[in-house]
Amino acid sequence: MLEAVLKTIDDGLPGSLDRLFGLLRIESISTDPAFAPRVRAAADWLAKELVGLGLEASVRPTRGHPMVVAHDRNADHGPHVLFYAHYDVQPVDPLGEWASPPFEPRLVDAGGRERIVARGASDDKGQLMTFVEACRAWIKVAGKLPVRVSMILEGEEESGSASLMPFLAANREELRADVALVCDTAMWNPSRPAVTIMLRGLVGEEFTVIAADRDLHSGLFGGAARNPNHVVAAIIAGLHDAEGRVTLPGFYDGVGETPDGIRAIWDSLGFDAAGFLGGVGLEVPAGEAGRSVLEQIWSRPTAEVNGMIGGYTGDGFKTVIPSRASAKVSFRLVGDQDPARIRDAFRAYVRERVPVDCRVEFKAHGASPGLRLPYDGVYLERARNALRDEWGVEPALVGSGGSIPVVGVLKQALGMDSLMIGFALDDDRIHSPNEKYDVASFRGGIRSWARVLAALAE
Ligand code: BES
Ligand code: ZN
Repeated sequence: MLEAVLKTIDDGLPGSLDRLFGLLRIESISTDPAFAPRVRAAADWLAKELVGLGLEASVRPTRGHPMVVAHDRNADHGPHVLFYAHYDVQPVDPLGEWASPPFEPRLVDAGGRERIVARGASDDKGQLMTFVEACRAWIKVAGKLPVRVSMILEGEEESGSASLMPFLAANREELRADVALVCDTAMWNPSRPAVTIMLRGLVGEEFTVIAADRDLHSGLFGGAARNPNHVVAAIIAGLHDAEGRVTLPGFYDGVGETPDGIRAIWDSLGFDAAGFLGGVGLEVPAGEAGRSVLEQIWSRPTAEVNGMIGGYTGDGFKTVIPSRASAKVSFRLVGDQDPARIRDAFRAYVRERVPVDCRVEFKAHGASPGLRLPYDGVYLERARNALRDEWGVEPALVGSGGSIPVVGVLKQALGMDSLMIGFALDDDRIHSPNEKYDVASFRGGIRSWARVLAALAE
C-alpha cells in the first residue's frame, strides 16, 4: 500500500505544486493589520481544501487571526496525531530586493535544483502542504488515513501566537491527541533529514523614548534639546559587554550548560561553522566569546535589535531632532530562563537609563520559554525509521535557534509532546527577500509524511 501511495505522490507532484502556488498567492502577513482580510482568505482556502479531502474542517475565530481546525475520524487504529503548521507569513520588505514579486510564486532552476520562490514557500506554507498532500495521497489510494489525524493551522505564528494558548485551553478535549507533529523546522542538509529536539524561546519587546512635544530644528535646538535617537542608541549599546554577553541583571539565571548526551550528538554532526557564516557573506562569529557557533545559535541566549525607528529616514536629508525614537528588541531564551522575568529585567534596565525630560513606553510582543524535548520514545523511533527509509541516511537530532511557540503551549495546555520534523534548508532565506523552498524538499517532505503516518500506525 505504501508503495502505491508514494507512486501517487510522485505522479501527482504537478498538482501538489499547483495547490501550493494557490496558497502562496494569498498575502497572509499576520503582523500587519492591513492584511487581516488576506490572512482570513488563506484560512478559508485551507478549510475548503481540507473539506475537499473529506475532513471535518472549519475556520475558527480567535481574538486575533483565525485557526483552521480539521479532524479525520476514519482510521480505526493507531495513535491519534495532531498536526500543526502555520499559514501566516512574515512581511516582505525590503520589496526592492525581490527578484520577482513575493506573492507570485515561480519555479526557478538553480543549477539543476528546482526551487519554489515566494514569501512563505518554506516558512511555512510549503511545509504545511507537504502534510496535506501526504494525506491526500493516502486517502486517494487507501480511502482513509493510516492513523487518526487532527490538524491545527495557525495564522499568528509570525506575530507572537497571542491567541494560541487561550484557543488550546478552550478546546482541550477536542484537540488533545497522543502526539503532535510540527512541520516548521529544517533538515540538517539537503540529503539528511532531521528531527529537532531543542528550540530557543523568545521575548519580544518594543520601547519608545519620547522627549520634546514635537520634532525640532536640529540647528535651532541642537545642543540644548534631548535627542531620543541618542537615548535609544545608548540603551542598545549597553545591552552587551565586550565579551558579547547580555548585561541585564539575572539574564543568565537558569541557562545551564548543554547536557553531555546532547553535546555528544552535536559533536557527531560535523557542523561546518565557516560554511554556515560564509553562506550569508560573513566570516567572524560575532556572539559570546568562548562559545562555538553551534552553541551560539542553539544553546546560548541572545539579545538582538530587530528594528530601530527614529528621525528622518527618507530620501535626502533633513536636519531634525525627532520627538520620539524606538527599537524592537528580541531575546532568545534557553534552559529555564523565565520570559516574564527577562521582560521585567529589560524594562527596569531601560527605565534606569531614560534621562530627565524623557518618558518611555513599552509594548510586549509575545513570550515563550526555550524548550528541550525527550529524544527517545516510541513515536520518535517510528518517525526516525520512516525518515531513514525515505532519505537513506540516519536522521540527525538537532537544535534550532528559532522559536515555535506552539510546542511549549501544547505541552503546557494539553500535556502533549511534539515531534518536530521539517524539510526546510538553511539557505531557504526564510524571513528574507527571495524566500525559496526546494522542490526536492517539497517532494521529499510529502513522501516522508506518507511514510511517517504509516510508521506511526505500526
Ligand atoms: N519556522 C520558524 C522557526 C524555525 C525555522 C525553527 C527553522 C526551526 C528551523 C518560525 O516560523 C519562526 O520564524 N518563528 C518566529 C517566532 C516569533 C515571531 C515569535 C521566530 O523564531 O522568530
Ligand atoms: Zn515557521
